[in-house]
Amino acid sequence: MDLTIVILAAGKGTRMRSGLPKVLHPIGGKSMLSHVVNVAKSLSPSKIIIVHGDGKDLMSASLNNKHIVWAHQKHQKGTGDAVASAIDLIENNQQVLTLYGDVPLIKQDTLQRLIRVTSPDALGLLTAHVNDPTGLGRILRDEHDQVTAIREEKDANDRERQIHEVNTGIFLFPAEKLKAWLPKLNNQNAQNEYYLTDVISLAVEEGVAIQTAVPSVVNEISGVNNRAQLVTLERFYQKELANHYLEQGVFISDPNRFDLRGKLSCGLDVAIDVNVIFEGEVNLGDRVKIGPQCVLKNCHIESDVEIKGFCHLEDVIIRKSASIGPYARLRPGAEVGQAAHVGNFVEVKKSIIGKNSKVSHLSYIGDAEIGANVNVGAGTITCNYDGAKKHKTIIEDGAFIGSGTQLVAPVKVCKGATLAAGSTLTKDAPANKLTLTHQLSQRTIEWERPANVEPKQQTVDQ
Ligand code: UD1
Ligand code: MG
Repeated sequence: MDLTIVILAAGKGTRMRSGLPKVLHPIGGKSMLSHVVNVAKSLSPSKIIIVHGDGKDLMSASLNNKHIVWAHQKHQKGTGDAVASAIDLIENNQQVLTLYGDVPLIKQDTLQRLIRVTSPDALGLLTAHVNDPTGLGRILRDEHDQVTAIREEKDANDRERQIHEVNTGIFLFPAEKLKAWLPKLNNQNAQNEYYLTDVISLAVEEGVAIQTAVPSVVNEISGVNNRAQLVTLERFYQKELANHYLEQGVFISDPNRFDLRGKLSCGLDVAIDVNVIFEGEVNLGDRVKIGPQCVLKNCHIESDVEIKGFCHLEDVIIRKSASIGPYARLRPGAEVGQAAHVGNFVEVKKSIIGKNSKVSHLSYIGDAEIGANVNVGAGTITCNYDGAKKHKTIIEDGAFIGSGTQLVAPVKVCKGATLAAGSTLTKDAPANKLTLTHQLSQRTIEWERPANVEPKQQTVDQ
């Protein structure tokens, strides 16, 4: 039978205390809503409907998905009313699966299991056995273990509150029955809301079978109502990812301190130290080592590269056997050649550093093309910006740039040239020659250093 999926996402999320709609808060760098939409898509439904309140434009922009159908719930009058807002978009002869935009980690195999156990004319219900059922709807069963009702905590008596089997909010309904039940809901309850959960008693009255399934892992059904729950789920999600990579043979020093907010592919024997954050799309070749406290966003890193601790890399390519850091910042467009080295407190932007070249200490390399076997001395600055435009610096193969040099672009250092330390280059430096730009030659003048003034002794009156 065809499947229509309704994702409830109209709740205000007041407890997040945020200007952003709740379902747009991220887990693993992706909005909760897009996690749910992805799992929904994996079930190949005939339609996905999102029930939204405020912030639809932000939601649809974040999803970038044309095949979603949107239903507006004007006033948040409860989960039953939310599904009712989508009812005109649901065709008959469908099974209707309800998901929550704030229950982001629900898995495809759990939903498939629910679909498998639920016959087309029955009501399917995903329940879970949890240690702490606080705040959740409790599942009431009769002496034959048949579900008879769902009781919201606020409406439950003491005995019902002891029940640890809870409603996950994920249901599978025959469309025609759902359409008949929704108008019968009322809001005579502690929250004056139209509860979707009340359809259970209607199903029981009509003798409709209720079939249940449970999730593979209980965290799959955890909902997010506040930031504390968001970060708890984030850790759970990251730990699962870290364990996945450990199983694939990646050495992650501490799976509790691993953060992936995008896609990561790893070769053989990759080692990732603690507190590394991966964003966007990152590829690591064989034997790549990433030191502690690095941030890597959209990086292509070839085999045998070592990134030492505290580096920040974004939109960069690092060729084989290069080494980076510690404390290096590589900005968009940086490409570090094979076996090259970028050392501590070096910033590189939109520049190519050739094979075997070294920029070891305290330098800024921007809009530059550096050839092979170049040595860039400590404190070298490419002066690439004249206040209006960016200009290019070219340093050809085998050049040697003395420490403390400024290269005022556009400028070129030709093959094998040497620049004396402290030079300020404004014209091209010819090949294989030593170029100095100093105005004054070194002098020594007689002078007397002023006497050292001793600091006054502090006296304390007692
Ligand atoms: C709901 C269930 C409860 C279950 C729990 C699981 C009901 C009455 N209760 O309670 O049994 O244990 O989920 O997490 O269904 N929403 C709307 N419009 C509304 C109200 C809610 O779209 O008018 C959406 C919310 O955005 C959210 C979802 O529905 O995604 C659940 O709403 P929420 O208010 O969090 O329900 P709970 O009180 O958690
Ligand atoms: Mg909730």
